[in-house]
Amino acid sequence: MNVPQIQQEIQTENDSDEEINPCTMLLIEQHQENKEQDTEAAAAKDEVHVITHHLNSIKSNVVIRQLPSQGISFKLWPAASTLVSLLDNHRNAAFSALFDHKPLRILELGSGTGLVGIAAAAILGAHVTVTDLSRASPNLQFNVEANLKTIGVNGGHVEVAAMAWGNDEEMEAVKNKGEYDVIMGSDLVYHDHLYEPLLRALRFFMLGDEVDKERVFVMAHSKRWKKESVFFKKAYKEFDVKVLHRDDPCDGDRIGILVCTFVAKNKNKKNIQVLGCE
Ligand SMILES: C[S@@+](CC[C@H](N)C(=O)[O-])C[C@H]1O[C@@H](n2cnc3c(N)ncnc32)[C@H](O)[C@@H]1O
Repeated sequence: MNVPQIQQEIQTENDSDEEINPCTMLLIEQHQENKEQDTEAAAAKDEVHVITHHLNSIKSNVVIRQLPSQGISFKLWPAASTLVSLLDNHRNAAFSALFDHKPLRILELGSGTGLVGIAAAAILGAHVTVTDLSRASPNLQFNVEANLKTIGVNGGHVEVAAMAWGNDEEMEAVKNKGEYDVIMGSDLVYHDHLYEPLLRALRFFMLGDEVDKERVFVMAHSKRWKKESVFFKKAYKEFDVKVLHRDDPCDGDRIGILVCTFVAKNKNKKNIQVLGCE
């Protein structure tokens, strides 16, 4: 898919950047709320929502605790379910091929409640590092511990790390845990002030001299606003982006989901040059 095609893919049908559904409103409100939120007070009055996600391929359940009043990191978003169903159903050959490494090490960015990382570890028997802002770590750890049996079905393992995109110290600590074969994330492109920090994290883990093998970032993206094309335009400069899967909006909803892969452009060029020399 070329750049104009993928630009069309990421446009919402609605040409305006106005609110397009209640999810959008929730994101805006919670972003503002999170800045000043007193987490202790929020926890005290919190409602707990638990969802059970069945994984057909391993006949096991993942149980996820959500604390919606604490902010967006404590809620499960639809793009995460799209990634998990692709992992679970093995119907998309190109998608499944991305995870064809043994042993497999996965880094998840902006894990939120942890469903994607936990399901990936369980289905693929992978070693997964789930990451998010430090305030999300206790709930992530809670969900990992609640699912230890399912995670272990195929010998998987999940580790929690606090990592803000662009925080050099935290990113370095995560990188030092070992080499990652695949980087994943769901619903990470939703606020323009996060585009550059997310790109910084992608550069840190996917580009640079120390990275000596081709690495792929798999992202499930909820299409909400036209302005998201700014993120993709920036990303095209450094990454080849392909759409592997799309979920069209369900009835009554305007949000569609795209699953894209990002591969470093420079890395491709370097590989071609190396191959050309041999
Ligand atoms: C819309 S939620 C998606 C959560 C989860 N991936 C899902 O799909 O259910 C976006 C996530 O990105 C995380 N996030 C936002 N800014 C971040 C940053 N600067 N560094 C790391 N994570 C961040 C949020 O804490 C939140 O968990």
